[in-house]
Amino acid sequence: MKNTITSLLLVSIAIVTSGCSSEQCTFAGEFLGNPSAIGAIAPSSEELAEMMVESIDPENSIVIELGAGTGPFTEKLVAKIPKDKLFIIENNTTFYEHLVKRFPDQAVLCVDACELDQHIPKHLHGKINVVVSGLPFRSLPQEVASKILSSLKKVCAVNFKLIQFTYFNEPPLPLAESEMLGVVPTYYKLSPNNTPAAHVWIYNPIVVADTTN
Ligand SMILES: C[S@@+](CC[C@H](N)C(=O)[O-])C[C@H]1O[C@@H](n2cnc3c(N)ncnc32)[C@H](O)[C@@H]1O
Repeated sequence: MKNTITSLLLVSIAIVTSGCSSEQCTFAGEFLGNPSAIGAIAPSSEELAEMMVESIDPENSIVIELGAGTGPFTEKLVAKIPKDKLFIIENNTTFYEHLVKRFPDQAVLCVDACELDQHIPKHLHGKINVVVSGLPFRSLPQEVASKILSSLKKVCAVNFKLIQFTYFNEPPLPLAESEMLGVVPTYYKLSPNNTPAAHVWIYNPIVVADTTN
């Protein structure tokens, strides 16, 4: 993991110094300032964004997006989900200001995902059934990841699904964290053209077999 972060740091320095789009430069600059919280050197691609949202049923979903960054998944979600059923979460103020300008009609919350349950309206607790996450769970400190997932558990429906990407060849959530959340991962798709290539996983609640009959 340390080697990966070091390589990403070097690539992001190269991006910042070699001339890039303003969005890419902003992203790489934020990564250099806080690599473990940003967890990526560039915004996700259109291809990955499409894979992250294509399985969501727009008619029957109340959706939270965690770690929106500059908004590649947000763009797809805003086009698909009614605005009162969509909550965008980002705690980095530079990204938050960018999101507010890019999606002026959509409520974006500048809050730490650890405190998610304090910001999602109470009447929706237990009703959030889709979570689209760009959070870098493998590089966040373990106690932060645990707090985020505990908070998530308080607002999600029993049958929720968590859609999460990773750059690594293993499920994006550490095993202890997915057990704590009561979910199991299913591999969904590879996005080969993302930089770097990314894997999409979908977590669903563990189904306990009914043995009473
Ligand atoms: C890997 S980037 C993904 C950004 C965007 N979704 C994308 O795919 O391009 C991770 C994002 O999670 C945000 N983040 C990290 N920790 C967070 C936290 N505790 N609460 C809210 N957002 C967080 C970072 O600021 C960053 O924007």
